[in-house]
Amino acid sequence: MKLWGGRFEKDTDKLLEEFNASIDVDARMYEQDIKGSIAHAMTLHKAGILSDDELKEIVDGLNGILNDIKEGKVEFTKENEDIHMNIEALLTSRIGEAGKKLHTARSRNDQVALDLRLYMRDEIKGIIELLKSMVNTLLDIAEDNVDTLMPGYTHLQRAQPITLAHHMLAYCSMFLRDIGRLEDCVKRMNFSPLGSGALAGTTYNLDREYTAQLLGFDGVTPNSLDAVSDRDHGIEFLSAAAIIMMHLSRFCEELVLWNSKEFSFIEMDDSFATGSSMMPQKKNPDAAELIRGKTGRVYGDLIALLTLMKGLPLAYNKDMQEDKEAIFDGIDTLKACIRVFDGMMKTIKFNKDNMRNSAKYGYMNATDMADYLVKKGMPFRKAHEVVGKVVKKALDDRCALEDLSIDTLRSFSDLFEDDIYEVLDLYKCVQSRSVIGGPAKEMVHMTINEFRKALT
Ligand code: ARG
Repeated sequence: MKLWGGRFEKDTDKLLEEFNASIDVDARMYEQDIKGSIAHAMTLHKAGILSDDELKEIVDGLNGILNDIKEGKVEFTKENEDIHMNIEALLTSRIGEAGKKLHTARSRNDQVALDLRLYMRDEIKGIIELLKSMVNTLLDIAEDNVDTLMPGYTHLQRAQPITLAHHMLAYCSMFLRDIGRLEDCVKRMNFSPLGSGALAGTTYNLDREYTAQLLGFDGVTPNSLDAVSDRDHGIEFLSAAAIIMMHLSRFCEELVLWNSKEFSFIEMDDSFATGSSMMPQKKNPDAAELIRGKTGRVYGDLIALLTLMKGLPLAYNKDMQEDKEAIFDGIDTLKACIRVFDGMMKTIKFNKDNMRNSAKYGYMNATDMADYLVKKGMPFRKAHEVVGKVVKKALDDRCALEDLSIDTLRSFSDLFEDDIYEVLDLYKCVQSRSVIGGPAKEMVHMTINEFRKALT
């Protein structure tokens, strides 16, 4: 008989049993479910609802089940619907009467709300660690490349010279914000819903603060209706996950471009590239492409959960059982992508000479030439126009700005003097951008240090 079978006269249709069961998805929360049940049992004991012996039987029973699950000795059933009822049924079959008291003052509604919070809390902490080690990899690359010149782009057109280190730090900034978003999300969800019952709390005198303390929460939820029907934490996490994937995806898009013969800025290591079944010469950046592709999947998880929740009246509705597939898929996909990305970045070879060469051609020192004229007294708008004409001349002559003679330059403005050639040196162009957040070496070193500190 079902745990809830008392008021039923017929068995559940097999079709519905299969459809209604969530055990295949929620079994992964077994450890959180058991921890939560132990804390709940201790709270029941504190309220005088369980005797010392009953508490001991329940706790020992639950710990035994936990061990057996870990050792693969337990088979869950669809008849018992979900992880909560599977474990409760198992407990009662093992310890008898005391097991039947465990669900006093509790509903699966506050139980599942609890399990999901505990599970997500653990997973998010793990994801933060993965992100931190990935950012450290990027900082290592930055450290090795404070002098590696490359073009900085706008509109995917060469714009101003930067360094590979500066480019890496841009992504580090994004991922550090992402870490902050995940930490924030944990902070807001870290409150215990136990004691909320099905929707309206409980008549038993439960010390909710005690349960919360046992489970490492920062406090208890303030409203029972909200506590059982809130899935904001899932939505917040998936929003943060979607943003992380968007950042990874932009990076991967650049890596795919950089890996093309046309750019030739990087070469993927053989261990993080794949071949073609038809074209023997191919070596493809599949890892980067797949991460870019899987971004859509995580966006889908977010939209699925938002859509799931948007029309639900308070409090719990069975629709909400669908939340876990989206959240778990988001967690799994994100973790896999961060791990693969980290491995790929650790093994990438940067073709520094090609990067430097690209920086050389493209008139990326034109802004510096204009700034030179401004520093000699010309208004910026006028300087912009003059340098535009100089660029046109260099384009016609198929040469770089620094290849034009001083006489040619002076035919555009007599403010040009021999010191212009120093200003046009690409390395100097970068070093003179020593404003906070700029690509100059000293700034980049400072930022690397700050970011390393932020990761500890
Ligand atoms: N398996 C359910 C879920 O994941 C647990 C809560 C069920 N509650 C209920 N009253 N049917 O949402």
